[in-house]
Amino acid sequence: MSSIAYILSDLMGQAFAALDLPAELGVVRVSDRPDLAQFQCNGAMAAAKVAKKPPRAIAEDIAARLQENPIFAKVEVAGPGFINLNVTHDYLAQHIQTYGRDAHCGAARLSAPQTIVLDYGGPNVAKAMHVGHLRSSIIGDCLRRIFDFAGYKAYGDVHMGDWGLPMGQVLSELQLMHPDWVYFDDAFTGDYPTESPVSMDDLAEIYPRASGACKEDADRLKLARDITAKLQDGHRGYRALWRHFVDVSIAGMKGNFDALNVHFDLWLGESDAHDTIVPMVDALKEQGLAETSDGALVVSVDQDDDKKEMPPLILYKSDGAVMYGTTDLATIVDRMRDYSPAQIIYVVDQRQSLHFEQVFRAARKGGIVTPDTTLFHAGFGTMNGTDGKPFKTRAGGVMKLEDLIAMAVDKATARLNEADIASDFSAEERSDIAHKVGIAALKFADLHNNRSSDYVFDLDRMTAFEGKTGPYLLYQVVRITSLLRKAQAQGLSPSEAVTLQDDDAALALMLAEFPDHFALAMQNYTPHVLCDYAYKLAQAFSSFYSKCHILSETDEQLRASRLQLCALTAHQLEVILNLLGIDVPERM
Ligand code: ARG
Repeated sequence: MSSIAYILSDLMGQAFAALDLPAELGVVRVSDRPDLAQFQCNGAMAAAKVAKKPPRAIAEDIAARLQENPIFAKVEVAGPGFINLNVTHDYLAQHIQTYGRDAHCGAARLSAPQTIVLDYGGPNVAKAMHVGHLRSSIIGDCLRRIFDFAGYKAYGDVHMGDWGLPMGQVLSELQLMHPDWVYFDDAFTGDYPTESPVSMDDLAEIYPRASGACKEDADRLKLARDITAKLQDGHRGYRALWRHFVDVSIAGMKGNFDALNVHFDLWLGESDAHDTIVPMVDALKEQGLAETSDGALVVSVDQDDDKKEMPPLILYKSDGAVMYGTTDLATIVDRMRDYSPAQIIYVVDQRQSLHFEQVFRAARKGGIVTPDTTLFHAGFGTMNGTDGKPFKTRAGGVMKLEDLIAMAVDKATARLNEADIASDFSAEERSDIAHKVGIAALKFADLHNNRSSDYVFDLDRMTAFEGKTGPYLLYQVVRITSLLRKAQAQGLSPSEAVTLQDDDAALALMLAEFPDHFALAMQNYTPHVLCDYAYKLAQAFSSFYSKCHILSETDEQLRASRLQLCALTAHQLEVILNLLGIDVPERM
């Protein structure tokens, strides 16, 4: 199935081709002047250059051909050669009827199976998750849902930071604190305890202390480095203790991700690529790609057309330590081996763009991916406070993710009380609704911005029930579903057949746009496209609702058709909110 604009592009392309003009010029889009027409094609302008004829004359030839097709209510040439199109209500009705039978609302689905790996979340072991991880998780999880919806086998991988120097820093701190622990006894050969000797709270306190100490004291840093190397080489005690704090950290992360309704298929981390590093580096050496530079082993990745300096990717530092780029490259080797993905997408802060450019180039140079594998860094901007600086706590510290979530839910609770929503429901249901509203506010406020833009975290604005917010959309869906329930209680149900008058047609036309917005969001990895559309759809519904009788409509056929438009709108909004990772309450 496809959108109307897509079908019209096909017809338009044929009309261009019939005049010996390139069919690709016949692209039809939803008009940006809905007051003039529903759809438009600007291809005659470009065709004029090819045909060496005035664009208006070309547009008129094409319009004359299209005029014969009964699906058009209007074919008009405007200005220098814009072709404006309206379809008939009948055609629109027929098109929209098919959506009623389609769980995917007309969105195009993959014809042959493909796999995609999405790398998002990226929390670090032994450290509390902060707002930087929020954007990655929310955007990444949304993209996973989008690809899944389109029929991909989509794997979300949390790719934890669980392997570098920070691990050695924590281990060294613990060793200095508890030298008598069995983990540090090299002569010990028995089984280590199954209970973790440290909690997440302990780690949250230990890590900053350890990292501070290593900054100040060179010997302390050396100890941490040595322990990191031993850990990576497989030292039994360090591995056992490390496993404990990885598990403790994962439990903490899961709490946050569950609260956010963010899902992962793979709970892998940097450490999982460790065994791949040596054979990978050997292969790079064999190909003559790994070279020594100032004692380090590097792959040069610069190209002749580089406008900026492109430093080499460091595989091993001069002290033999592996780097962030090494584990990322080895992780690509593993992903290709285990999943043969067509795409690997990294949802990571855009300040890491140089790192990914280096890794991607090295992966291509080393033949680690096939030439047609897409490697893409879907970078994102910073979440700022109202002062325009990166978001902090009142005290100026880094805001922990769980505190931020609690703030959003508290604010949502206050909003519900203010608006007297759900006041007669049980305390349990109210708290469930408040949680959903809070998370909807947080997620929508993040996703509706262009991914690469910075944005201001404004709790008041994002939790409002009016305007372009998550709570507004939730409220709209719940209202429509309650209207449908009311109809059902009166014995009225939607009909599969759709009958359109002008005000109905405006809503139907909007519903028919979904496949285009979905395709665009997927193609550019831009969830905000879906947010914009959901908001436009909710507004189109409001206008339909204020202009058209629904339950009070006396023409039975029209009433059933309007109920169907309500049902289709509710379904699309639910589908989109689901794609955004936003849960809708049953009622509110
Ligand atoms: N752990 C990293 C951080 O906190 C993010 C990891 C992103 N993913 C990756 N494959 N490098 O910055």
